[in-house]
Amino acid sequence: MSIQEKCRVLKHQEIGPQRFKLTISSAYISSHAQPGQFVNVKCSDDYDPLLRRPLSIHSASSFHGRFELLYEVVGKGTELLRKTSVGNELDILGPLGKGFTVEQNKKIVVLVAGGMGVAPLLFLANNLGKTEQGTGKPPAIYVLLGAKKSDLLLCDRDFKELADQALISTDDGSYGKKGVISDLLFDLLDNEFSPEDLDNTTIYACGPRPMLQIIADISFQKKVSCQISMEAYMACGIGTCLGCVVKTKDGYKKVCDEGPVFKAEEIIWQS
Ligand SMILES: Cc1cc2nc3c(=O)[nH]c(=O)nc-3n(C[C@H](O)[C@H](O)[C@H](O)COP(=O)(O)OP(=O)(O)OC[C@H]3O[C@@H](n4cnc5c(N)ncnc54)[C@H](O)[C@@H]3O)c2cc1C
Ligand code: FES
Repeated sequence: MSIQEKCRVLKHQEIGPQRFKLTISSAYISSHAQPGQFVNVKCSDDYDPLLRRPLSIHSASSFHGRFELLYEVVGKGTELLRKTSVGNELDILGPLGKGFTVEQNKKIVVLVAGGMGVAPLLFLANNLGKTEQGTGKPPAIYVLLGAKKSDLLLCDRDFKELADQALISTDDGSYGKKGVISDLLFDLLDNEFSPEDLDNTTIYACGPRPMLQIIADISFQKKVSCQISMEAYMACGIGTCLGCVVKTKDGYKKVCDEGPVFKAEEIIWQS
């Protein structure tokens, strides 16, 4: 269940160019949030912009009663959010949506994060590290991180601490391998994973839609289970306006309450 509440901002840090991390107080959201879920944030005290903005939950600590959001300033809503000071209250609705489903029988997980896609995937990586899966051992965690250039790469140190292997790509080659993250995924599955490994793997991906489409194609080719977190323009965020639908093999589904996480094979990609 989600709630709407005024939540106090405890910290607001600049973590990169136009990129910020908010630490927010909420006993309810921090104790109910699951990786892949999001909150809908009212960015202004008046009616402009009218709609709340969806942001993934980046971490949650029920012990401390706080959660974190990571955001990039791209327009009016996030520009207003940037002006929020420590001590201010934000009107937040959450936690919302259906997050990642951890497949308990899989011994290997591959997290694929493009750009701001790191936001929900670090939360998932932290939880997976704690998860005792089928064999009694936590899964082997591979992390693939991609960004346009090195200064836009976020959370790489945190991921490196949690992962058995972390691979990085940047479009301009300023850090890690030059190229796109989907090439890293293809190479990993093709060169390093045996057929038995592929059967035992789940991919969890979040990032821009074109990236997700390629990741979905690769998972289909390699017959690897894959869950992706879809982005969509949202209005209500709670399943009533039908403003956020994506086409799936079972008809249109609402990203805000039937997603944002879907099985990759469900999605019918449209240009
Ligand atoms: C489930 C979900 C989780 C998200 N999590 C995060 C997150 O953790 N961190 C983060 O930085 N962003 C996240 N986003 C995207 C974020 O919601 C948008 O960047 C934000 O709403 C933009 O608001 P704005 O008013 O600043 O920009 P606007 O003025 O509304 O738009 C500015 C530009 O951003 C593009 N844009 C806006 N919203 C979206 C969208 N939903 N999908 C694709 N393009 C969009 C517009 O086309 C435009 O070019 C998430 C979106 C969804 C649906
Ligand atoms: S945003 Fe209204 S139904 Fe999804």
